[in-house]
Formats: sequence, structure tokens, C-alpha cells
Amino acid sequence: MHSSLRSVVVSLLSSKEQSVETRLQGLCDLLKAEIPHYDWVGFYFRNGEKEELKLGPYAGAPTDHTIIPFGKGICGQVAVSNANFVVPDVAAQDNYIACSITVKAEIVVPLFVDGKNIGQIDIDSNTPDPFTEADERFLEFVNREVAKIL
Ligand code: SME
Repeated sequence: MHSSLRSVVVSLLSSKEQSVETRLQGLCDLLKAEIPHYDWVGFYFRNGEKEELKLGPYAGAPTDHTIIPFGKGICGQVAVSNANFVVPDVAAQDNYIACSITVKAEIVVPLFVDGKNIGQIDIDSNTPDPFTEADERFLEFVNREVAKIL
């Protein structure tokens, strides 16, 4: 699962004639288009030295949540836990920030540069309980590749 996509991710991120922003946008578009249970794909990054996340490139419906304080929602929790967070059913979470009523599940995987948690990839799904360990391994791979160009 996702194995053929890995080489596409590597080549997309390595196109140095494009800005990092453009490459990350292309990556979000690619993952949303190629993986049926990925309905919203975006990056959040630590906002300077502030204890908050700021929305970066994303593919999917626009969200009001462009700034998320550390500790708030699934994303804010991952900013402090440094661990993957897989949510099979968002309705069962009390510390959750809803972006769209169609979303049933979410996965957030932290992004490390030189061992520091500097952001995360966030995926929303309209399918209940769709994420497996294959998604976690794949998204960890994606973030390791992204870390190389930051
Ligand atoms: N659901 C996230 C907020 C970000 S949106 O999914 C784009 C959360 O609870 O942190």
C-alpha cells in the first residue's frame, strides 16, 4: 500500500526549480488525489517561537482554523506530545476542532527537523475508521522527505 506513491513523493519534493511552498502544495494535491480516504490534506507549522500552529499548504475545503494553540484539538495535542495521533471517530474526541461536518476520522503525524517537532501533516477523512499502520508508516516517510527540504 502506498509504495508506488513513495517515488512520486520523492521526485516531486526534489524539483528544486520550484519553491518549497509550491512543492508542499503539490504534495498535498497529490496525496488527496491519489489516496481515496484522504479528503483534506494539509501542513501546520509552529508559528515562530509562539506556542501555536499556523496553517501551511493544504488541499481540500478551506478551514477557519489557520491558527491552533498548542494543546488544542488533535493538531495542538500532537504539537506537545510529539506522537502520531490516529482518530478513528472524531465524534468520540472531546478535545477536537471540527473543520467540516463531513469529517469522520483524522490522522496527524508530527514533522521533525533535527529531532525538533516543527509541525505536522494533518489528514481528514470522510470515511469512518479508515487509517491503518500503513498510513502511519507512509506519512512518517512523507514527513522525513519533507524535512530534507526545510
Ligand atoms: N481537526 C483538527 C483541526 C484542523 S482541521 O482538521 C483542518 C484538530 O482537531 O486539531
